[in-house]
Amino acid sequence: MKEFLKGLVEKNRIKSEVGNVADYIPGLEKSDKNALGLCITSTNGTIYSIGDCNIKFTIQSVSKPITLMLAILDHGEEHVFSKVGMEPTGDAFNSIQKLETCKTHKPFNPMINAGAIATSALIKGKNSQEKFQRLLDFFRKISENETLEVNDDIYLGESLTGNKNKAMAYFMKGEGYIDGSIEDALYVYFRQCSIEVTAKDLARIGLFLARGGVMSNGERVVSERIAKIIKTLMITCGMYDGSGEFALRVGIPSKSGVGGGIMSVVPGKMGIGVFSPALDNKGNPIAGEALLEDLSSELSLSIF
Ligand code: DON
Repeated sequence: MKEFLKGLVEKNRIKSEVGNVADYIPGLEKSDKNALGLCITSTNGTIYSIGDCNIKFTIQSVSKPITLMLAILDHGEEHVFSKVGMEPTGDAFNSIQKLETCKTHKPFNPMINAGAIATSALIKGKNSQEKFQRLLDFFRKISENETLEVNDDIYLGESLTGNKNKAMAYFMKGEGYIDGSIEDALYVYFRQCSIEVTAKDLARIGLFLARGGVMSNGERVVSERIAKIIKTLMITCGMYDGSGEFALRVGIPSKSGVGGGIMSVVPGKMGIGVFSPALDNKGNPIAGEALLEDLSSELSLSIF
């Protein structure tokens, strides 16, 4: 199996050539364009780590489903989905268009930037530090990695340059979709995006969801219902305006990030973590998507 997986990684590594690493967040441009890592952790305990699995990178948008879980634990499903929708947009991950033009002005889903900022605003705590610390503790728990930390350079770079995200936060506050402090919401959002992970961490988070919200010691952290919400939003919205095609080509609930990460969940079977920093024109890891397509067809992993 290991040799077979190595073959898939090497076959797909060259596909990075036609992608580009993100450079709109200062620091991300330093990523190695040709890196490709695949980590698979199965519910039966098997672990495969192939290629660049130990390189740290910032989690970016892969954080969004994790924050959504804590927001639902904090407030319940009904309140969370009164602030953010459940529908795909067909627009880019950072688009402001539907926020402005649709009559409710409600962010469409928690996987795009607007919806994720509204979700981050829901994390409970007496101040921004406490809110983020609670969220970081939650990331550490479900990834079963107590050492996760924020990359402060990337955080600072994004908080200085993330003007479009700030604009959307102010807009949503004006429309009543953010109740508390805008500064706190942006602090939590920019810091969650800057948490450093490896492909192995993403595989373990995927495994947590593959078990329906249960850790390897058997502890249930979120309900089956919350795990179902997260997996559903990952398949419908997790790859943004590439979600439909990805559902057909790969058919595995997945969430991408501009740092190069993809976290995938094969329900009941395995969590998959990918590191692939060269992105396609939708901001999704280009070699990573092709690798997952091969893996899915070779091992019959599509849920459809
Ligand atoms: O807000 C942003 O633009 C980034 N922190 C996260 C965007 C992202 O990862 C989109 N993913 N493919």
